[in-house]
Amino acid sequence: MIIKFLRQQFVLFVTGIFLVSVLVACQRTPIAESPTPTVTPATEQTLSTTQFPPVAYPDRELSASPAELPELPYAYNALEKAIDAETMKLHHDRHHATYVENLNEALQKYPELQNRSVEAMLRDLNSLPEDIRETVRNNGGGHLNHTIFWQIMSSNGGREPTGEIAQQINQTFGSFDAFRKQFNQEGEDRFGSGWVWLVRNAQNQLQIVNTANQDSPIMEGLYPIMGNDVWEHAYYLRYQNRRAEYLNNWWNVVNWSEINRRVQAVSQQQG
Ligand SMILES: [Fe+2]
Repeated sequence: MIIKFLRQQFVLFVTGIFLVSVLVACQRTPIAESPTPTVTPATEQTLSTTQFPPVAYPDRELSASPAELPELPYAYNALEKAIDAETMKLHHDRHHATYVENLNEALQKYPELQNRSVEAMLRDLNSLPEDIRETVRNNGGGHLNHTIFWQIMSSNGGREPTGEIAQQINQTFGSFDAFRKQFNQEGEDRFGSGWVWLVRNAQNQLQIVNTANQDSPIMEGLYPIMGNDVWEHAYYLRYQNRRAEYLNNWWNVVNWSEINRRVQAVSQQQG
């Protein structure tokens, strides 16, 4: 009888110890201490989820430490077939230079951001401090858009496209003429200031889009293959308000070999 009583007491004691241990263990493992999630730094996160880097150049992104105005790859008067020398000088030396200056000034407050490329910041604007977000959007976008723009024009431009881009344009739009017409229309339809672009979308298709102000297609997950600036500062001296005429003449200076380099770069990224 006594043995039976002692055995019951022992079982109760052991059960009690077990329950207390479980309770203590539960208290010592709050949710916050469950395995630490891997926090990917913004740049890595952006690169891993974005299909198309780099963007400013076929082989590299734009540095922000500090941002620098790239030299024009030709003389101011090289593009006279479409754009006069005075417009080129003002556009590059004043407008583009101002975007670079404003971007650097904004980033001075946040030196840690200078380690990120301009593209990385534009792809992830919400990760930036709110007080400089719009400045980076406008001026980082302006720096990126114009850097691409200078490269995809040339004094030797103007012929019909060749190579991979010619094939892809024909497949997507039926013909170069149909593509050019649609591109010009998209540029005319951009109300106010902005850009018209040929982009590659996430489904690996070519698409014509326009963007407002200095917004970049990369903000929408699109890769810019080529783009034309439809701000008035790009054409007003020669064309005044005749944007359609500027859009039409612009094809005389389009640098298809550079555009093919951009197409090949994105094909390799995806391949
Ligand atoms: Fe511009």
